[in-house]
Amino acid sequence: MTLTFLGHAAFLAEGGGKRVIFDPFITGNPKAPFPVDRVPRLDAILLSHGHSDHLGDAIPLAKRDQAIIVSAYELVNFCVSQGAPGHKMQVGGTHRFPFGIVKLVPAIHGGAIEGSTSREPNTTPCGIVLTLDGVRVYHAGDTALTMDMQLLHGAVDVMLVPIGDNYTMGVEDAVRAVGFVEPRVVIPMHYNTWDAIAADPQQFRRLVGTRAEVVILEPGKPHTLS
Ligand code: NI
Ligand code: MN
Repeated sequence: MTLTFLGHAAFLAEGGGKRVIFDPFITGNPKAPFPVDRVPRLDAILLSHGHSDHLGDAIPLAKRDQAIIVSAYELVNFCVSQGAPGHKMQVGGTHRFPFGIVKLVPAIHGGAIEGSTSREPNTTPCGIVLTLDGVRVYHAGDTALTMDMQLLHGAVDVMLVPIGDNYTMGVEDAVRAVGFVEPRVVIPMHYNTWDAIAADPQQFRRLVGTRAEVVILEPGKPHTLS
């Protein structure tokens, strides 16, 4: 399976002939490696929550490719109301899709759906565990450090963890999260996009030490996981 970091919290996961994107904030993302029209054809779009730096280009990409948007119930309702294909889930649930298996897990964060004028302007923020081509990827979303992460111990190969602080965990809490989950590989995200979330990924790597392999990805560079 190959993971490509698209800046901020956006990742492209490819494996087994399928292509899935997490939190496709490309337009307006100062760290995006290419414009949205260079995002390759997608099978599915996984969203952690409804803030604009995560919802991003999800709706136009879903419509372009007839790619299914998978997330929490209210956020998918909003996307479907805008004409996108969607599959509604809730935190704690697992579903097997043609492209892979998705489980939504807890995240502690804000629930606003930015751009929504419906009577459901809020959703449950979540983390996402995707199994694609036999590799289990945990995208933590925007979250505080939470004891719930301990429930993922032994169930994750690759952890995508925010380190930028202010809106999410900072470096020190992210290191504790790695200790809770003990993934094989950890990739920092949600940092240095803007000044408010400035963080040093090398400091993160030093503090994780031997607990996991820290892979620091430049936007646009693919990383293959064996
Ligand atoms: Ni957020
Ligand atoms: Mn965010």
